[in-house]
Amino acid sequence: MNKNTNFLYSHTESKVMSSIIIDNNFKGYSLEELNIPDHYRPYLKNILIPNGLIIDRIEKLAKTIHDDYSGKKLHIICVLKGGDRIFADLNKMLDSLNVAKKSIPITYDFIRTSSYIDNKSSGVVNLMGKLDDLQDRHVLIVEDIIDTGRTLKKLTEEIKKLNPKSLKILALLSKRISKKSSINANYLGFSIPDEFVVGYCLDYNEHFRDLKHICVLNDLGKAEFKK
Ligand code: PRP
Repeated sequence: MNKNTNFLYSHTESKVMSSIIIDNNFKGYSLEELNIPDHYRPYLKNILIPNGLIIDRIEKLAKTIHDDYSGKKLHIICVLKGGDRIFADLNKMLDSLNVAKKSIPITYDFIRTSSYIDNKSSGVVNLMGKLDDLQDRHVLIVEDIIDTGRTLKKLTEEIKKLNPKSLKILALLSKRISKKSSINANYLGFSIPDEFVVGYCLDYNEHFRDLKHICVLNDLGKAEFKK
């Protein structure tokens, strides 16, 4: 929780890297203030994080990661489907840094996970796909959101069995909820209130992934696209 209630956005030092905290009182941006496709407008409450701010934040995370892995080889595991957009934008920025600064070799892998029905975690995390050999590699998991933390808990357990040299997590969002697995991101974009968010590849039953801003789903949206 943000201690300084005068600010809607603030910064805090976690033990690994500061993140942007979006306060529980933040009302978001009106749907009229930025472009939203007409077919999504009735189902959204507000815009929580505009695309431009997402991109600016990823730029900062990319620079920090590039500095941290200097002199090493980096192996990035993208967690699909939700991690697709942040993975793509992060890598565009790492590519640019690899030209502008001392370059680091980067390899990729992808794994698909699934556990949500409507806006609830089923409690069972399915991992689909086989990971590359990770022995002695510096692994960075790239994920869109930590909600209950179950997905990352299960994934990190599986990855640790493959003996990587190091393992870190980048998550664009972490939701402040009370019942959470004790899993933290080393690189975190935003700490957000306990709201169901969609857009920037985050979905509700596969809808809304193509929305560019991160938005709060309203009750009509939850009912309309319910399974
Ligand atoms: C979502 C999201 C994370 C996970 C976070 O994935 O992309 O991977 O849930 O939730 P948790 O912290 O409660 O485990 P989902 O299982 O919906 O699959 P998707 O990535 O294909 O949307």
